[in-house]
Amino acid sequence: MTLSLTIRDAQPADETAWRGLWAGYNRFYESSVPEDVTTFTWKRLLSPESALFCRVAEASGQVVGFTNNVLHEGTWVKDPLCYLEDLFVDPASRGQGIGRALIRDLIDLGTKCHWSRLYWHTRNDNPARRLYDEFIKADDFVRYRMSL
Ligand SMILES: CC(C)(COP(=O)(O)OP(=O)(O)OC[C@H]1O[C@@H](n2cnc3c(N)ncnc32)[C@H](O)[C@@H]1OP(=O)(O)O)[C@@H](O)C(=O)NCCC(=O)NCCS
Repeated sequence: MTLSLTIRDAQPADETAWRGLWAGYNRFYESSVPEDVTTFTWKRLLSPESALFCRVAEASGQVVGFTNNVLHEGTWVKDPLCYLEDLFVDPASRGQGIGRALIRDLIDLGTKCHWSRLYWHTRNDNPARRLYDEFIKADDFVRYRMSL
């Protein structure tokens, strides 16, 4: 059966579904985001004033995946850069091309809106790299991250 899939901006009515997926994403990374941060993040994802935005994948009327993204300025380019911060597909819906469609959606959106670049990080051993390598090879930068 062909999957009927729509990728679109998140809407207020998606909150319950998004929160369920967000909890799964947190479990995947064995982390927990405090409730007030989750609430603030959801609010910003919906706000046109925020640099954060969310695209959701809807299959047969159910929201089954998302990208949470940050659009920001850069010193090396004039047009905005998009950081794909979080990508998640519900385990029951994996392996049907939804993750691929969510990345493709950002490429299409960014091409249309004249973003200069789309980028993301992942763990070295994340099997999702098989999917990422379809789009672009990873570069040789490493990440330094300091909690303040
Ligand atoms: C990564 C993720 C979003 C992929 O979603 P998905 O809808 O299953 O991806 P797709 O069906 O579009 O996969 C496309 C291809 O990549 C491969 N692939 C994707 N994720 C994979 C994984 N975790 N393990 C093995 N292969 C994977 C698939 O084999 C598939 O190849 P195929 O079409 O030749 O069979 C999903 O596995 C997920 O949410 N993982 C947990 C969270 C995560 O890792 N997020 C990314 C953090 S940077």
